[in-house]
Amino acid sequence: MKFFAFALSLLLMNYAKCQKNQCYQLTKNPYSLFASKSAYSSLSANQNYTNQNCRTLQLWMLSRHGTRNPEEHQIENISKLTELAKKISIENSNLCQEDIEEIKKWAYNLNKNDSCMLNSQGVRDLSSLGIRLKNVYRDILYTFNDTFNPMTYKVLSSPKARCVDSAFYFLRSVFNVNVTDIPLRHEDDFRINISKYKNISNYDDLEESGVEEMKKFENSIHMQQLITRVTKILGFESNLKIETIKSMYDACRFEKALNINSHPAWCAIFTQEDLKVLEYREDLQHYYFLGYGNSIIKRISCPIIKDLITNFRQKSQGLPGPKGVFYFAHSSNVLSTIAGLGFANDSSRLLSSNYEEMQNRKWRSSYLDPFASNIIAALYECDGDHKVTFYVNEIPMVVEKYGCTLCPWEKIEKMFDPIVSSSSCSFYQSTSSATLILNAITLVFFICSMNILTSLY
Ligand SMILES: *[C@@H]1O[C@H](CO)[C@@H](O)[C@H](O)[C@H]1NC(C)=O
Ligand SMILES: *[C@@H]1O[C@H](CO)[C@@H](O)[C@H](O)[C@H]1NC(C)=O
Ligand SMILES: *[C@@H]1O[C@H](CO)[C@@H](O)[C@H](O)[C@H]1NC(C)=O
Ligand SMILES: *[C@@H]1O[C@H](CO)[C@@H](O)[C@H](O)[C@H]1NC(C)=O
Ligand SMILES: *[C@@H]1O[C@H](CO)[C@@H](O)[C@H](O)[C@H]1NC(C)=O
Ligand SMILES: *[C@@H]1O[C@H](CO)[C@@H](O)[C@H](O)[C@H]1NC(C)=O
Ligand SMILES: *[C@@H]1O[C@H](CO)[C@@H](O)[C@H](O)[C@H]1NC(C)=O
Ligand SMILES: *[C@@H]1O[C@H](CO)[C@@H](O)[C@H](O)[C@H]1NC(C)=O
Repeated sequence: MKFFAFALSLLLMNYAKCQKNQCYQLTKNPYSLFASKSAYSSLSANQNYTNQNCRTLQLWMLSRHGTRNPEEHQIENISKLTELAKKISIENSNLCQEDIEEIKKWAYNLNKNDSCMLNSQGVRDLSSLGIRLKNVYRDILYTFNDTFNPMTYKVLSSPKARCVDSAFYFLRSVFNVNVTDIPLRHEDDFRINISKYKNISNYDDLEESGVEEMKKFENSIHMQQLITRVTKILGFESNLKIETIKSMYDACRFEKALNINSHPAWCAIFTQEDLKVLEYREDLQHYYFLGYGNSIIKRISCPIIKDLITNFRQKSQGLPGPKGVFYFAHSSNVLSTIAGLGFANDSSRLLSSNYEEMQNRKWRSSYLDPFASNIIAALYECDGDHKVTFYVNEIPMVVEKYGCTLCPWEKIEKMFDPIVSSSSCSFYQSTSSATLILNAITLVFFICSMNILTSLY
């Protein structure tokens, strides 16, 4: 259903693009799929899907933080574009007047102190998600009025400010409380810290292969044509560097995500095809690092999936347990969990060489992982039976193995049993074993130290 709707909108956009020399500034609904820097609200189905005759027993959610500012390095690079804009000659450029004027008068006012922070749109992302969920899950989210009880609603956040803030605004919106002591995950808690897997042999190779496939794509005809087109439309003589084009892309998409109805100046230099190429480039990287291209993705995502299954199992057995379990983390967590659950699995691999073939791929970070992306699982009781529905960005997903959306809990439990009962699937709990702690000491925190991957956080 989701993909059909998107296919339709793409078709309409294609039609718009055929009208030559259209000014971006005058385009009504410009293309707005920007990989993992897409705005949530432009994608979400916002549907209040409910299952008749079902009572919610437990709601489980893993959410990425809302829209945030660029990273420090990105802010630095984006700032440099003001200098470059001065060098654009109006006569040589092929942009229409409205578009070139916007670029010429463009100014950037973020500094490094603002880097990575949840911005005003990020606050709205989580607040509106809270309002929608409260509306759909009246049976378990409306019973709670004044005081926030952390036993009934379990919350855990990554320690990054943008995640803690996301949790704060979500809880304020759902429960009308200001929770200032959001529980932060312990650094050895591998449910939402996937750094542990640095230690698995050949992890570096896997990570490299993601970057490698992306680099290969950068040398492909598609990227090369993009560089030529952007260079030409700006009227420069020699080809722009990929880094410069990436900064322009970032300037465009971060501004678009912050202000959904805006027409950011730098977006004007890209055709729709360019934006699709840049999107694929990132999808490739995610696919090999956090998706099906990574042969240990099941192991990476097992602690969080085990948490989900364990929570549902307890509830379904009538044991006490929270009504809601809410995690606030990062892009890397959401993507790896989607792959661990088996959603958005294409029958062909994404390659640097099959861009055209993969136009209708399921593994598309613009759909799967915009800002505030989320995975929700709901455990229901329907006429005495226990059922489960998974949602990605509030869209109900079909569990392909059984062809169901409202699935019997027993089937789901059985499907994930190999993952959950595996002895290699362990994670920190307050009574953590000495071995786990020991192992953790030998591990290195790596993702943030890797330039190329910092954007995953
Ligand atoms: C969904 O929510 C919207 C807005 O809250 C409401 O107008 C609409 O009637 C609801 N639809 C269903 C099927 O509940
Ligand atoms: C910023 O630009 C420099 C130089 O072009 C490049 O090496 C670096 O990767 C860029 N950083 C980011 C985060 O894009
Ligand atoms: C960034 O924050 C520091 C400490 O709060 C402050 O001293 C500095 O002036 C700020 N820099 C900018 C560019 O705002
Ligand atoms: C919550 O508030 C609503 C409306 O203010 C009220 O009708 C309901 O009884 C309250 N529920 C509880 C559990 O306090
Ligand atoms: C939460 O904090 C905001 C801003 O400080 C305040 O306006 C609001 O009344 C507070 N809400 C509650 C329930 O304390
Ligand atoms: C994630 O886990 C690793 C390995 O235990 C640890 O070194 C690192 O500090 C953790 N990351 C964060 C942000 O806590
Ligand atoms: C990490 O690697 C070391 C050395 O290869 C190994 O002894 C240890 O068991 C590994 N830990 C985990 C958690 O895989
Ligand atoms: C993804 O799909 C491929 C091909 O259809 C299949 O072989 C593979 O097992 C699937 N992966 C997962 C993790 O479900």
